[in-house]
Amino acid sequence: MSRVMSVRASSNAPKVALLGASGGIGQPLGLLLKKNPNIAKLALYDLVGTPGVAADLSHIDTPAQVSAHTGPAELVSALEGADIVVIPAGVPRKPGMTRDDLFNTNAGIVRDLAEAAAKTCPKAFLAIITNPVNSTVPIACEVYKNNDITDLKRIFGVTTLDVVRAQAFVAEKKGLDVNKTTVPVIGGHAGVTIIPLLSQVKPSVKFTDEEIKALTERIQEAGTEVVKAKAGAGSATLSMALAGARFVENLLNALKGQKVVQCSYVKSDVIKGIDYFSTPIEIGQNGVEKIHGTGPLSSYEQSLVEKSVPELKASIEKGVKFIRVHD
Ligand code: NAI
Repeated sequence: MSRVMSVRASSNAPKVALLGASGGIGQPLGLLLKKNPNIAKLALYDLVGTPGVAADLSHIDTPAQVSAHTGPAELVSALEGADIVVIPAGVPRKPGMTRDDLFNTNAGIVRDLAEAAAKTCPKAFLAIITNPVNSTVPIACEVYKNNDITDLKRIFGVTTLDVVRAQAFVAEKKGLDVNKTTVPVIGGHAGVTIIPLLSQVKPSVKFTDEEIKALTERIQEAGTEVVKAKAGAGSATLSMALAGARFVENLLNALKGQKVVQCSYVKSDVIKGIDYFSTPIEIGQNGVEKIHGTGPLSSYEQSLVEKSVPELKASIEKGVKFIRVHD
């Protein structure tokens, strides 16, 4: 049964549905979303554990009204009226695995959740955290197309953790104020497809070639660094929750009418030959309004983009094929 707990929500404020809410990311992300005063309703959906997580979060004295939805029979009630749907549902990596190794399990999960969202709240923003993001975003887009939704401007792959990591590592290395350090990260969200633009760091800072190579590789492999350190207990959850909450905060601001710019992996024709790519994008009330492009790239960054294209192309095709074959 879906249960609604904790009242005092303001009536016109947005509803956020969190799918995969009992997981390693879902729980701390739920906490951060519950803390967000701009959220009126927070629907927690998972196959297990949602009543406990919802009861716990509902005791926090912030406005969001928390509801628990458990199992497929309660998915529609979680999604009804949602303005933003956030998806961290699915299995995480263990040491030795690539994100693509998760495809077999996670592709079907994202397909089914996207199908329900397309039918129940087609105008909601869909923020996909589930890996492999390079394939799960094309999967969701294909599902939407099958539901006659041709406007795919509300479907986002969350790559914010790559930006968060890049900003943390660059600020630490160069002794910058991390609160004022920005680093765009473009491409996709796996290994060599993660492309930090160190030539576009703000405030402007000089790196040696060795520093650029070492920082780039650390940012690309940062997820694996956490997977190894957790030694079989999963992948990044706390930093991902922060990144997810930051991404949702920007979507909430966009819904309020502000123009926000952030990096996200979306349908894009910025790079010839591939249909999805992350660059800074401008988001408004109806989703992606403008794709900013990569900006001027150093020759090293240009070579990273070229190197990412075959892998992105393969991951995109794999996602598209998964839906077309299963139609
Ligand atoms: P987890 O295993 O701790 O939690 C996943 C949750 O999803 C579990 O509670 C599980 O019951 C639930 N779930 C499974 N199938 C479901 C379904 N059909 N419907 C609803 N819920 C379902 O995993 P964790 O650590 O939370 O990671 C989740 C995903 O996020 C993984 O795919 C991981 O690779 C990805 N991830 C993405 C990052 C990014 O930057 N985009 C960063 C870190 C992780």
